[in-house]
This record gives sequence, structure tokens and C-alpha cells, in this order.
Amino acid sequence: MRRIGWLLALGITGVFASESINPKYADSSKCMPCHTEITKSWKSSLHAMSHYSKNELYRKMIHYVSKKRIQSFEQVEIRCAQCHNPHIASAVSDSDISDASFGIASEKMRKSLDQPFMKDGVNCIVCHNIEKIHFSDDPGKRGKDTIQWGPNDTMVGPFSDAKSPYHKTKSADFFKKDPNKLCFVCHYNERSPYRALIGSTGIEYQSSGSKTTCVECHMGAVKKGHAVQVDLGGRGTSGKIRELRSHLFAGARNSDILADAIDLSVMRKGQNVVVTLKNRTPHNVPTGFGGRQLIVTMKALDASGHLIQREEQILEARYLDKHGRESIPHLAKDVLSDTRLKPNEHRTIEFKVPAGSNEVIVDIKYRLIGKKWVEKLNIEDEMFKKEYPVASIQMQIR
Ligand code: HEC
Ligand code: HEC
Ligand code: HEC
Ligand code: HEC
Ligand code: HEC
Repeated sequence: MRRIGWLLALGITGVFASESINPKYADSSKCMPCHTEITKSWKSSLHAMSHYSKNELYRKMIHYVSKKRIQSFEQVEIRCAQCHNPHIASAVSDSDISDASFGIASEKMRKSLDQPFMKDGVNCIVCHNIEKIHFSDDPGKRGKDTIQWGPNDTMVGPFSDAKSPYHKTKSADFFKKDPNKLCFVCHYNERSPYRALIGSTGIEYQSSGSKTTCVECHMGAVKKGHAVQVDLGGRGTSGKIRELRSHLFAGARNSDILADAIDLSVMRKGQNVVVTLKNRTPHNVPTGFGGRQLIVTMKALDASGHLIQREEQILEARYLDKHGRESIPHLAKDVLSDTRLKPNEHRTIEFKVPAGSNEVIVDIKYRLIGKKWVEKLNIEDEMFKKEYPVASIQMQIR
């Protein structure tokens, strides 16, 4: 049976003991009254939008994959949920899974996937209930399959002396000494069903030899402050000044992190301009989701400011499906090409400047997904259509 084989390959048979989540800790609204600043920051991050009900691109991709693979929406979603909604392990039972794997989308399954703690995405208790991480580079074992959660009432974090009137506390290395381990649970070795590598931020990072951790850039510099914004009248340690980072998980959409991605310089060389891009990050740019693009544009203007030439290069990964047609990452069998900047790479691109040019403008922009797929998947949300500025230089030619 192919489908049983598929389930075994993912290692999800039998593992799905459907323990229930204690409603007192289930979703971020429960943490908001005390950890107000943290919860607000987290809400603006993509971790809070990883459920299909909150992310149009993700939802439409699940539909597209399910159509192409002749599987139900739920069947595909279960696979994606490993990382996008790892608490699926607590939401659905073995029999729900086998129903879904045979294409029966039961009402019960639908309801399980739509519970509040599922809709909350990669939420507080996904990370802060973790007792152990069994890191594996096996692509079949990602997200929830490498996490061992402890009791819901125990919040695991960076401090060894925290006391809270609402929950028990515990400290762990993967919040303080080795936080990359936590990020690698999901940002590492993501494969398509045909085993093409489509998400490799952690692997890229390891190849760079960087000592700067993910949280130093994506949760910002350490700042002194309070982990809690209510006065707990001496019952907790809310008065303590702590060293904190931000829960923004900064990306293109909720921060200006793109401004730190690339050093751009432009030089004249005969009839050409030489553009140098220096990747300042220890992972690819763009990294993460395989649909991202970096667009490098050269515009030449004449003395009266009219555009006389425009050229562009797109840096991206492209994929082929099992029929050899260009495909979205999640249906890829092979990588067709990959022109993304490698960790710390310096890349030069030469553009020919036409005679009569007075001024050259070189521009770098970032797209969450290429135009072609925006059209094909019928994406409407502006967030996925717009271009995000990265860097720009203007140069006088004479
Ligand atoms: C993707 C994993 C992840 C998620 C989701 C997450 N956190 Fe954290 N949290 C961390 C990491 C990593 C640290 C340690 C940051 C550092 O170095 O200070 C942390 C630290 C904390 C701390 C200690 C204070 C601090 O800033 O160091 C509190 C309290 C906390 N988180 C609460 C929450 C709450 C509440 C939510 C949900 C609104 C949440 N976290 C969501 C990873 C996560
Ligand atoms: C009634 C207020 C209150 C609520 C509600 C609350 N907490 Fe806390 N929490 C605290 C206090 C107080 C501390 C200790 C802060 C300190 O020592 O600086 C704390 C500490 C933490 C820590 C750090 C633990 C450590 O040892 O490093 C984490 C993680 C955390 N809370 C997560 C959560 C999450 C997730 C929720 C929601 C499910 C939540 N808290 C709800 C008050 C609260
Ligand atoms: C349980 C799985 C999981 C863990 C653990 C996790 N992430 Fe994520 N992360 C995701 C998913 C899934 C998304 C994409 C959500 C979406 O776009 O809908 C994401 C998105 C992000 C983004 C935003 C990308 C964007 O487009 O804005 C950043 C930055 C990020 N994660 C950093 C981290 C860091 C740093 C850590 C470690 C402290 C971490 N993540 C831990 C699953 C995880
Ligand atoms: C030196 C700072 C730095 C470090 C360290 C770093 N990043 Fe990044 N990261 C960036 C910058 C700048 C960008 C924006 C450019 C891009 O998309 O590649 C980015 C982009 C991302 C994105 C895509 C965000 C989006 O909007 O699509 C993800 C996901 C991500 N990083 C995860 C990680 C993880 C996981 C680690 C650790 C293994 C890590 N980063 C380490 C600086 C850093
Ligand atoms: C191994 C863990 C993992 C699995 C399994 C996974 N994803 Fe993701 N996905 C991520 C991470 C991490 C990110 C964030 C990377 C970034 O933002 O660049 C992400 C981001 C995305 C995004 C970008 C969303 C946005 O808002 O920009 C889409 C779309 C997506 N995934 C679709 C899927 C689909 C569809 C599946 C199932 C067929 C799936 N993913 C399975 C880890 C995973």
C-alpha cells in the first residue's frame, strides 16, 4: 500500500497519541495579560500566522498540492503541520489520520485542525513546553517528530530562578546556551515528497561556520526589561530586571531586517557597471521558503531623466516536478537552478550601460513569491504581491 508507506516514511503511525492540551495554557491569549509585550511582538511574527486560516499563500499551496497529488486537503495539511502546527499531535488521533490518508475528510478531523491552539500556529507552548529536543538530520523527522513536550503547566525558558503564580517554570539550554537547536527543529532540511531539498536555512548556516546565533539577529540584541507587565504584588518575580530579546522573529514583513541583508556597491568598468552584492548573513539570501526571490535591477537614464534601458536579474531557486515541468517547491523532484547568494558570498553582476546614459540606478528588491506563482495560485493578499526594498544605489555616469 503506497499510502501506508507514505505514513511510515513520515514516522507518524502510532506516534499520534492524542493527549489533550490544558485550556489554561493552550493559546497565546492566556499569556497576554502578563507577558503583554512578548505576546504583542509574537503576534506580528509569521509564527503566529502559520495556520492555513491565517495565511493565504500557505492555504492555497495546500490546495494546489492536494489537487496535483490527488489527496485531500487534510491529508496534505497533516504533513505540513509537522512544522507549521506541530501541536497537531495533540489535535488528531490515529484513526483521524488514517481516515485522512484514505481521502475521507471527516468533520471531526476538520474540527480538530481548527481548534484555537491549532489556529494559534507556532505559539508559546510549542516552544515553551519543550522538555527535550531529539535533533535529527533525517528529513522524515522534522518539527513535532523531534520535540518531546513536557506538562502544559510547566514553562521552560532561559531563567533558572523564575517564579510565576500562573505556571511552573524550568530552564533549558536550548533557550540560553544553544538556541539554534530550537530553530533547527523546523528551519532545517525540509524536503518535498520526492526528497528535493526545499528549505535549508539551518544547513546553509552550518556551512557558514558562523558563531552568531539565529536569535541574535531574529530576536534582536539583548535589552534589559521585565518579562511581565503586571504587578503581581510580590507573588512573582515580575519586579526583576532581566536580559530579554524581542519575540518579533524578525522577517521582511514585520521589521527592517532586509536592510541588513546585503552590502551593495557599484563601479564603472568601461562601457559597463559592475554591481557587487555581499551577503551579510550566514545563510542564503533569500533563504527559507523556496519561493522567495531577490530582484536586481539596473536602470539607465539619459540627461533629461528618461529611462533608456532597464535590465534585471532574479536570484532564486527553481524546481522541476516529476514530469519535468517547472513547479512550486513542495512538488519538486529536482532543483532546476539555484542562484541565491550563498552564506557570506560576494557576487558580481555586470550590466552594459548604453551610450547616452547620464545616470545609473541599481536597485535590489525582495519578493515573498515570484509573480508567476502569484498568478497561478490566484493570490490576492497584497503582502505576497508587493516588492520589499533591500538596497539601492544611484551613480552619475559622467
Ligand atoms: C519559536 C519559539 C518561541 C515561541 C513561539 C515563543 N518563544 Fe518565548 N522564547 C523563545 C526563546 C528562544 C527565548 C530566549 C530568548 C533570549 O535569548 O532571551 C524565549 C524567551 C521567553 C521568555 C523569557 C524572557 C525573555 O525574553 O528571554 C518568556 C517569558 C517567553 N519567552 C514567553 C513567550 C510567550 C508568552 C510566547 C507566546 C506569545 C512565546 N514566548 C513564544 C522562543 C519562543
Ligand atoms: C499571572 C501572570 C502570568 C501568566 C498568565 C503567564 N505567566 Fe509566564 N511568567 C510569569 C512570571 C511572573 C514569570 C517570571 C518572570 C521573571 O522571573 O522575570 C513568568 C515566566 C515565564 C517564562 C520564563 C521561564 C523560565 O524559567 O525562564 C516563560 C517561558 C513563561 N512565563 C511563559 C508563559 C506562557 C507561555 C504563558 C501562557 C500560556 C504564561 N507564561 C502565562 C507570569 C505569568
Ligand atoms: C515548530 C517549528 C518552528 C520552530 C521551532 C521555529 N520556527 Fe521559525 N517558522 C516556522 C514556520 C512554519 C514559519 C513560517 C510561518 C508562515 O510563514 O506561515 C516560521 C517563520 C519564521 C520566521 C519569519 C519568516 C518570515 O517570512 O517573516 C523567522 C525569522 C523565524 N521563523 C525564525 C525562527 C527562529 C530564530 C527560531 C528559533 C528560536 C524559530 N524560527 C523556531 C516554524 C518554526
Ligand atoms: C547575522 C544575522 C543573521 C543570522 C545569524 C541569521 N539570520 Fe536569518 N536573516 C537575516 C537577514 C538580514 C534576513 C533577510 C534576508 C533574507 O531573507 O535572506 C534573514 C532572513 C531569514 C528568514 C526569511 C525571512 C523572510 O522574511 O522570509 C528566515 C526564515 C531566517 N532568516 C531564519 C534564520 C535562522 C533559522 C537562523 C539560524 C540558523 C538565521 N536566520 C540566522 C539575518 C540573520
Ligand atoms: C520541515 C518543516 C516544514 C514543513 C514540513 C513544511 N514547512 Fe512550510 N515553512 C517552514 C518554515 C521554517 C517556513 C518559514 C521560512 C521562511 O519564511 O522563509 C515555512 C514557510 C512556508 C511558506 C511561506 C509562507 C509565507 O507567509 O511566506 C509556505 C507557503 C509554506 N511554508 C508552505 C508549506 C506547505 C504547503 C507544506 C506542506 C506541503 C509545508 N510548508 C511544510 C517549514 C516547513
